[in-house]
Amino acid sequence: MTMATYTLEGFIADLDRLTRDEPSPHVITERVAPLLARLVKNPVAVPAEFRRRPPGQRRGRYMLHRAPRFNVTSVIWGPGETAGAHNHETWGVIGVVDNEIDETRYHVAEGLPGGKARLAVKTVVRHTPGAVSCLVPGDEVHAMHNPTDRDTVEIHVYGRDLAGLRRKMWDADGTEKPLISPKYTNC
Ligand SMILES: [Fe+2]
Repeated sequence: MTMATYTLEGFIADLDRLTRDEPSPHVITERVAPLLARLVKNPVAVPAEFRRRPPGQRRGRYMLHRAPRFNVTSVIWGPGETAGAHNHETWGVIGVVDNEIDETRYHVAEGLPGGKARLAVKTVVRHTPGAVSCLVPGDEVHAMHNPTDRDTVEIHVYGRDLAGLRRKMWDADGTEKPLISPKYTNC
């Protein structure tokens, strides 16, 4: 007997149910993580047009489902593409559909003399297909890097719409900069 394929529609229905009466980002991400791990194993969970980068761009970002309490997006990292240390201002769960990506997690000490933050590396993990990673308050600053020569496809779930959200990023020396993500490629 084969288990029914877990679809994006099923995942969205589960997210709707899981976030309805649960305010805790820790509880939500803990419950969403195994579901996303299941979803990313379905190679066609994300429509084909949202699994590739727009021509000439190093990264693709597509909104798959926007809801008041969560949104589901696909992110495609071109070969060598990186995102420096940044935060999210919401909970998140990230899963790898195809290929690999390196994630570096940081502890950030802010409010130091001189106005710079101090970033200490907590972990560096190479995620492979099926891997999921949770972002929760107090542990949601990371950097990403596709170290391979082909595209990496991920599904990202967040508690808020990141487009236009005021976030932070940091240079290697701890200099803080504003980060505001643009609209998604498809909307
Ligand atoms: Fe991120």
